[in-house]
Amino acid sequence: MAPPPSETPEPGRSPTAPSAGVSDPFSEPLCIGALALDRRLFMAPMAGITTLAFRRSVRRWGAGLAFTEMISAYGVHYRDRRTLDYLMCGPDEHPLGFQLFGADADVLADAAARCVEAGADLVDLNMACPMRKVVKTGAGAALLGDPERAAAIVAAVVGAVEGRAPVTVKIRSGLREGDEAGRRTAPRLVAAGAAAVCIHPRTARQLYRGRADHSITFALAAELPVPVIASGDVDGRAAALALLEGGAAAVMLARHALGRPWLFAEILDDAQAPPLAERLAEVRRFTDDVMREMEARSVGYLRQFWPRYRRAGTLDKELAHALMLAPDVTAVRELLDR
Ligand SMILES: Cc1cc2nc3c(=O)[nH]c(=O)nc-3n(C[C@H](O)[C@H](O)[C@H](O)COP(=O)(O)O)c2cc1C
Repeated sequence: MAPPPSETPEPGRSPTAPSAGVSDPFSEPLCIGALALDRRLFMAPMAGITTLAFRRSVRRWGAGLAFTEMISAYGVHYRDRRTLDYLMCGPDEHPLGFQLFGADADVLADAAARCVEAGADLVDLNMACPMRKVVKTGAGAALLGDPERAAAIVAAVVGAVEGRAPVTVKIRSGLREGDEAGRRTAPRLVAAGAAAVCIHPRTARQLYRGRADHSITFALAAELPVPVIASGDVDGRAAALALLEGGAAAVMLARHALGRPWLFAEILDDAQAPPLAERLAEVRRFTDDVMREMEARSVGYLRQFWPRYRRAGTLDKELAHALMLAPDVTAVRELLDR
């Protein structure tokens, strides 16, 4: 690691944007239902990634809205202790979306009401997850193949939250190439009360391979009377701007923000990555937050990030390798404090 700076900078985006006075498409206010947002760049929900510490990290760099990872509605409904842990959020975390997955309207409705009690500013329903263990239960992307049930779920959840939070839905373009299930289902979800639709325009069968086809995002944005949020392949300002210009109401970062939370600031401020000292301060701050939140489990969780920090040029190869091998939190701390 580079020698520590004499004064450790406080990580995060500076509040002054370079284009002060010039209207910036990312700073146009956006309403999702009654929820007013001041920025159109969000962090997407990611299972196993979007913990409280992670959400705080991307918020420091400018994320206008973050999401929990997808939470099992059954787990919430039946008060599974581990699932209830996912409902924990901080007072500094708003606005925050909670994402639920499930296939039963009553169970999802009850879980959504609990999310609102736990602090959700928005409840998102996952109709996008392509993973076998989710789809085989009728949840996630499987709901795109059952539009009637999908719409009934939205209606039940909207009824349960009683206007306390907007209900949104995250979809894929379809189950398989050419079926257009996303585009055909979305209007029914909106008619049932969805306040926005987020689309990741890959098919479920594609998983995360290939390119996202945002011509589908633009077609949906032209058709639907609610905001359409775009997710997929956003790696910088040009890609994000192109999505807003094509009609998306907001853009979500996902894989490209892993190990690179300052990508939010790069996009919002049309800026370069911050200096190494600031990036290292962010790595240490994030690591501390993760350790406080996850204790012994943090070592495994953090292993997802070390190679990404290395790829983004923030950690050198030797340090990233040593961190991967570090057996416990003490070893991780010692390596980062060197
Ligand atoms: C590891 C991983 C976990 C994800 N978990 C979720 C999730 O819990 N809920 C969800 O709606 N999407 C999830 N996604 C999809 C992302 O939110 C996003 O839509 C997708 O990665 C496309 O964006 P990208 O090409 O910028 O990565 C996940 C993606 C990855 C790679």
